[in-house]
Amino acid sequence: MKKHPLYIGVMAGLLSLTATLPLQAANQTVAPTTLNQPSRQQEAIESKIQNLLAQMSIQEKIGQLALRDWGTFDASDMKSIKQAVREGRVGGFLNVNFSSVDKNAFEELQRIAVEESPLGVPLLFGQDVIHGYETIFPIPLGQAASWNPELIKNGARVAAQEASADGIRWTFAPMIDISRDPRWGRIAETLGEDPYLTSTLGVAMVEGFQSGNLADPTSLAACGKHFAGYGAAEGGRDYNSAYIPERLLRDIYLPPFKASIDAGMQSIMSTYSTLNDVPGTGSPFLFKQVLREEWGFDGFVVSDWNAVMEMVPHGFARDAKHAATLAANAGIDMEMHTDTYEQFLPQLMDEGQFSEAQLDTAVANILRVKLRLDLWNHPYPRAKSKAERAQIIRNDQFRDTAKAAAKETFVLLKNDNRVLPLKKGQSVAVIGPLADAAHDQLGTWIYNGDKKHSRTLLPALREMVGDTGEILYAAGLDYSRDTRTRGFKAAIKAAKKADVVLFVGGEEAILSGEGHSRGDIRLPGAQAELVAELSKTGKPLAMVLMAGRPLQLDQTLQQADAVMMAWHPGTMGGPALADVLYGETSPSGRLPLSWPVGAGQIPIYYNHLATGRPASEDNYTRIEKIGREVFQHQPGNSSNLLDYGHKPLFPFGYGLTYSEFEYSDLELSDTTLDANGQLTVSATITNTGKTAATETAQLYVRDQVGSVSRPVRELKGFERLTLEPGESRQVNFSLKASQLAFHNTDMEAVIEPGEFRVWIAPNAESGLEAGFTLR
Ligand code: BGC
Repeated sequence: MKKHPLYIGVMAGLLSLTATLPLQAANQTVAPTTLNQPSRQQEAIESKIQNLLAQMSIQEKIGQLALRDWGTFDASDMKSIKQAVREGRVGGFLNVNFSSVDKNAFEELQRIAVEESPLGVPLLFGQDVIHGYETIFPIPLGQAASWNPELIKNGARVAAQEASADGIRWTFAPMIDISRDPRWGRIAETLGEDPYLTSTLGVAMVEGFQSGNLADPTSLAACGKHFAGYGAAEGGRDYNSAYIPERLLRDIYLPPFKASIDAGMQSIMSTYSTLNDVPGTGSPFLFKQVLREEWGFDGFVVSDWNAVMEMVPHGFARDAKHAATLAANAGIDMEMHTDTYEQFLPQLMDEGQFSEAQLDTAVANILRVKLRLDLWNHPYPRAKSKAERAQIIRNDQFRDTAKAAAKETFVLLKNDNRVLPLKKGQSVAVIGPLADAAHDQLGTWIYNGDKKHSRTLLPALREMVGDTGEILYAAGLDYSRDTRTRGFKAAIKAAKKADVVLFVGGEEAILSGEGHSRGDIRLPGAQAELVAELSKTGKPLAMVLMAGRPLQLDQTLQQADAVMMAWHPGTMGGPALADVLYGETSPSGRLPLSWPVGAGQIPIYYNHLATGRPASEDNYTRIEKIGREVFQHQPGNSSNLLDYGHKPLFPFGYGLTYSEFEYSDLELSDTTLDANGQLTVSATITNTGKTAATETAQLYVRDQVGSVSRPVRELKGFERLTLEPGESRQVNFSLKASQLAFHNTDMEAVIEPGEFRVWIAPNAESGLEAGFTLR
């Protein structure tokens, strides 16, 4: 491509930009990295690090790199664990479940570290505080459906306050892996398929955990994971190979990490998977080149659990010693669970395979974060007594925040005949395995979550209508995979008696999350059969789905009049759902990913390339319409699946409310954009329905022609607007030319002049469209 005269100038600007701004989220406010602008406090930290390093033995230095759990030791041998801490051979512990073990044991370990280890460096306690600590919030994918950074920030803040009460100061979150594959069980932990949305929400989560002031004793250091490409596990099989061309990696998979680091995120976890045939945990490209050299990251890198040793079965490391060499030289500062660093680093240093300068760098990276957390002044759990703990953990305010969050995560997918909201006075037959599933509504990763604190939907509905007998209940199936139909009879009987049927089904918590992928993403067990039977009663049928992923709905979608996706909504899921089902609030969630027709359509994502033969409704024939023995080309040759078509079931960004919205008056402040300029794109949104509701207006662009083929649409902004019936408001998005940058085949971030399309839209498949020229 011929480079525009301005191109060089733009490039120069961009290249310096890439040091501080994420490409995909260039209009976000980001904090400058402390590395580039040392403050006085930072200087004090650096000098304390040097001071400590000067006094540390090699063994103590290596000790700082050790993140241990009970599995590393013989857990019954507390004496030797304490001795390891006393000798400075442990830098931190992970996933010490404070509610199920003797909490004092950990306070005692910290006391030993602080008072008896050679230099008194405090231990760092980390845990997977993924969507709440004891007050469980909706799963991250559900939180992402809120498209509300504030909500996500508040949730992370609550989690941090609870976890720090127990002495945890580091969380293995946010998970900012992009995934385009709902078979992958860990999609439940992601923030969806889009780099802009994931960047924005990931940054919000980091801000919530870290509170803008790491030294605040309620702060947790955040850990972005899993670097990089874990979400692209082949076939959705967890831990599997990821093949991502570097260009795509830089445009789609890396921006959320860059954005989170620019927002001050303190640590990064390596991926289990291989990325283009190299295990992430042994990749100098990822950790040395991208993370340190290109981005100037100054926090620390931790391996995933056992990931150093897993380079042996990967066929990348010969043995434990080789694995330690590869990980340490790739830039993995801290080793989680295994102890290959302790075992082999001294020898590797004698052999010249790893230097003391490298060791010092790794230790400094870890000490820097410990110092920023001010662990020296706050080494112990924040709650000093049971009573103090009780005031913090699961307090009313936190539960209210969790409920408010859940309410914004529900996505109304269908609502024929306005079956929803339910009306008081109607009798409702509540049926299905998840209406009263205290454990399953919590979702994956809940170390400290306990079903005894869950508020489920069934009692919440009863509470909502009072003592009217309007709520009938027959589960029909005991759990989501239940195939026994013995409960059908009672369920159908209840359905016949009621004015409306509310089916609450989906997936149990255990069907998503780590190591829990599915090849068949239909409703498990006999749920589809049960819904089919219920629809035969002719009663209006609303369906609430709780699941860690979008599900293949098949004929169930036709049988239900209304469908609401509730993800796994957490501790307060029941009351939150009851409020929305009865219309106290309109649903406002939007899909953070494309909802596939079926598993055979995966990977499916909105920001795909166009293909030479894009499918449209009129250039292909559905399988049932193809005549017998017709000529090969007759039904049309375009990029589609004969049975599933060419579109997802529901597009990215989609979600209904109890009202209607109209988009009008799309305007651009100019029809041309200079390479260092910006445009304002505006439209008027009107609530044309009868209820107050929240609409999420989305800004998309398409670069018509590029030196590489460009996505059909890319999200560049969004705004949530709550409007009263009849109310109109203008949305104004500023679109900077720098947001149009992408990586070319030379891996340069470039902006290329040319024609662009732009939309303000309610989802990735519709909206008002205009164009502009980038000069
Ligand atoms: C997961 C990580 C998690 C770590 C510690 C691993 O199996 O992949 O996401 O943070 O365990 O529990």
